[in-house]
Amino acid sequence: MSKIKIPNIFLIGFMGCGKSTVARELNRQYNMPVIEMDQLIAEQEGMTIPEIFSTHGEGYFRELETKLLASLADQSGCVISCGGGVAMREENVVLMKRHGYTALLTASPETILGRVERGNDRPLLNGHKNVADISALLNQRLPKYIAAADFTVPTDNMSAAVLAVQVYEKAVSLSNQ
Ligand code: S3P
Repeated sequence: MSKIKIPNIFLIGFMGCGKSTVARELNRQYNMPVIEMDQLIAEQEGMTIPEIFSTHGEGYFRELETKLLASLADQSGCVISCGGGVAMREENVVLMKRHGYTALLTASPETILGRVERGNDRPLLNGHKNVADISALLNQRLPKYIAAADFTVPTDNMSAAVLAVQVYEKAVSLSNQ
């Protein structure tokens, strides 16, 4: 049972901004059930995210993201850790705003690089694991992230435990308005 008296919290932001880590911490501290979008999509498809991209293409994956978001309509009090591309689609933003608050996690390109360097689970970063390429994609996406966000939490040099408190408190204060 969640103690929370607020709607869902959607964690949005670029790859490596800490969405999954902060989601786990919101679960640990506030008992909020976690919905990890990438993990659910991979389970439903029986493939890893890179396999979905290489087999069906990015467009197919984006459709799965939108379908999954739409299917979350009956959830409340959950934290939804969104893939980094979710906030790029207007219809996804409408769905998120209808069902909760959107918390944008941000980080510098240097911090992001440090967090994504290992692992090959992010197809869009293959061959682009350097500050210049990450900066370019981040800057291209930033206006949409900001437009989609109810509030923003910078994550550089912050512990996940403190970030979870910040996200939770901001969501609570919005729900009390
Ligand atoms: C993506 C981010 C990834 C995953 C996919 C595409 C993106 O999720 O959904 O590789 O377009 O930014 P994370 O942000 O959890 O890494």
